[in-house]
Amino acid sequence: MTDESRKSIHGQWSSRLAFILAATGSAVGLGNIWKFPYITGENGGGAFVLVYLLCVAIIGIPVMMSEVLIGRRGRRSPINTMRMLVAEEGIPRIWVLLGWAGVVAGFLILSYYSVIAGWAVAYVFRAASGAFDGATADGISAMFGDLLGNPESQLGWHTIFMVMTTVVVARGVRSGLEQAVRYLMPALFVLLLVLLGFSMNTGYFSDGLAFLFTFDVSKLSGAAVLTAMGHAFFTLSLGMGAIMVYGSYLPGNASIAKTSVTIAMLDTLVALIAGMAIFPIVFAEGLEPAAGPGLIFHSLPLAFGNMPGGSVFGALFFVLLVFAAWTSAISLIEPAVAWLVENRAVKRRNAAGLVGVITWLLGIATILSFNRWAFEFEFAGETKTSGIFDILDILTSNIMLPLGGLAMAVFAGWMMSKSSVLDELKMGEGAMFRVWYFVVRYLTPVAVGIVFLNLIGVVTF
Ligand code: PHE
Repeated sequence: MTDESRKSIHGQWSSRLAFILAATGSAVGLGNIWKFPYITGENGGGAFVLVYLLCVAIIGIPVMMSEVLIGRRGRRSPINTMRMLVAEEGIPRIWVLLGWAGVVAGFLILSYYSVIAGWAVAYVFRAASGAFDGATADGISAMFGDLLGNPESQLGWHTIFMVMTTVVVARGVRSGLEQAVRYLMPALFVLLLVLLGFSMNTGYFSDGLAFLFTFDVSKLSGAAVLTAMGHAFFTLSLGMGAIMVYGSYLPGNASIAKTSVTIAMLDTLVALIAGMAIFPIVFAEGLEPAAGPGLIFHSLPLAFGNMPGGSVFGALFFVLLVFAAWTSAISLIEPAVAWLVENRAVKRRNAAGLVGVITWLLGIATILSFNRWAFEFEFAGETKTSGIFDILDILTSNIMLPLGGLAMAVFAGWMMSKSSVLDELKMGEGAMFRVWYFVVRYLTPVAVGIVFLNLIGVVTF
């Protein structure tokens, strides 16, 4: 096959750096700043963080390499990439389902992701209007309670965020996606450092660090291990085709291994800084670390309310959080949109609109999870209080993404021929390659498998 025919019809990133920016834009999002702190709080801190870090290093990076290489090999939307590789390599057709599962996961994730991003949009205006100034923990808690109890206003914010996402996806790979990340990601990083500086002066910084980095195995339940592993996939955008579709726009000569390591490190850094900024505030204010999805919406307004220039910093912070969520949201529907454009000859604009409307509708279930439809249930010994939202979260992060990632590792490790894998990775057949090949063939499947078997009670640890 010639190099020309290995180019995506949707365009290509202008360089490896552009891909790193876009993939980092996909990876860094609500997962790092909203979700990582709250699930760390719910799962008792240090031990959970350690498992998450291990999962990123030994499962996440190798799976990311597999996903990028599959995408670049296929040069199409995930569904068609699977179709083409199945044909090219003589692999059973059932593997095409992996592409479809990713599209479904993307819809489900974005449906709730957009609602939470909508909360962040709402908080931009609250911060800017000075609503946090001098606020007390009770005042901030009442403010958040008002938002959660009000489905109409959440619907309004969710709508704004979905429109933003759809518009960028409609504009396409280069003009839409690349530009957004280049300046906004570094700006978000700087603002996180400002917050970190604030936290260092709360007098509770060491408590925050101790919470995040003290390893206490007794706090580690099987469900916590599953959540940590699921989060490693979620935060790196793995297992559903987002990174695969971005990989399909990657220029042919870029190193997949180096790129994947860079993205994973940046993503992890942002999460750890967010955690180090947030927990000292939580302890200083006597808040509950296990407060759930509202954690940053309780703790951060208190910080901004008590720092000089807090309304400006606060507004800026939530603006950047919205941008981080935006660049992730885009990647969640790109697989579906790219498929519609390829197979149904739909214009990109219309494809984006259709996908946007479906996700918007699905989002209503999440909005109602926090008020009219709220119900409690038990999962792996833990009580969940926000009905459909929790179900969607467990189904996608803890089940669909790990299984999707596992399947991609198996696909690259066992299904594709070694020669095409080598050809795509371009890292030679040295020690690094052999380690990676061993991990995706054996370690990843076994590790993911054990965590699942533990969950359904076949093995216990
Ligand atoms: N990685 C994103 C975040 O951390 C979420 C995401 C998951 C994006 C899966 C794409 C695919 O917020």
